Amino acid sequence: MARTVWGSTVGKKAVMAVSGLVMLLYLVVHMFGNLKIFFGPGTFDGYAHWLRTLGEPFLHYEWALWIIRVGLVAAVVAHGVCAYQLSRRDLRSRPVGYVRPRARSSYATRTMRWGGVILALFIVWHILDLTTGTVQRGFVPGHPYHNVVAAFHDWWNNVFYIAAVLALGLHVRHGFWSAAQTLGAGSPTRDRVLKGTANVLALVLTAGFVAVPVGVMTGLVS
Ligand code: HEM
Repeated sequence: MARTVWGSTVGKKAVMAVSGLVMLLYLVVHMFGNLKIFFGPGTFDGYAHWLRTLGEPFLHYEWALWIIRVGLVAAVVAHGVCAYQLSRRDLRSRPVGYVRPRARSSYATRTMRWGGVILALFIVWHILDLTTGTVQRGFVPGHPYHNVVAAFHDWWNNVFYIAAVLALGLHVRHGFWSAAQTLGAGSPTRDRVLKGTANVLALVLTAGFVAVPVGVMTGLVS
């Protein structure tokens, strides 16, 4: 059964849709969590601490966070591997190629591929920047408020984050729509609602994530 799903084009698209929706759920929660920064260091750092003590005393310190991390890594890997294999299949099925290479894939497909690559690179940078602090001078473990303010003091980091978040908005807009079609939710009557939902989701996520670097740049968060 698992082999059939993994081996077929439809199966890979279904894996992409489900893993994409898992990541989307994480992003909505992460975005709302980030907005707590506007309530001050006590609230924001307290929220980060709560994330680590979630499920205690049944779970030990950081166990819930690690369970979430394992689920997320599984979703990212499944999504990336299927995307790569589907695009290889797409290219292999047209061995002769087109006269105009750009006509080979649609605008949306190319945007999704490049958007996916940018987001993968962003996630690696973002974890080294704000989770491990490897690339950030002055990183203080356990003080995410201070670390976020420090991270957005460098203008180029703001540019990179904002560009990545815009790429995320476009990716979610098209990805949510594609996932709905793959999972069979599309129909002539529902398509307008699905498109509207995709637009609202993309807009809310983009605005919510961009608000933090903009908040630091304007001095609202300091
Ligand atoms: C632009 C605004 C963003 C801000 C201010 C922000 C802030 C943060 C902070 C402070 C952490 C560390 C949390 C902690 O250690 O308690 C974190 C972790 C993380 N963020 Fe973001 N984030 C942003 C956007 C994003 C985006 C767009 C993505 C995904 C595409 C993302 C994915 C992650 C992931 C995967 C982690 C690691 C979670 C973990 O394992 O602890 N973030 N973020």
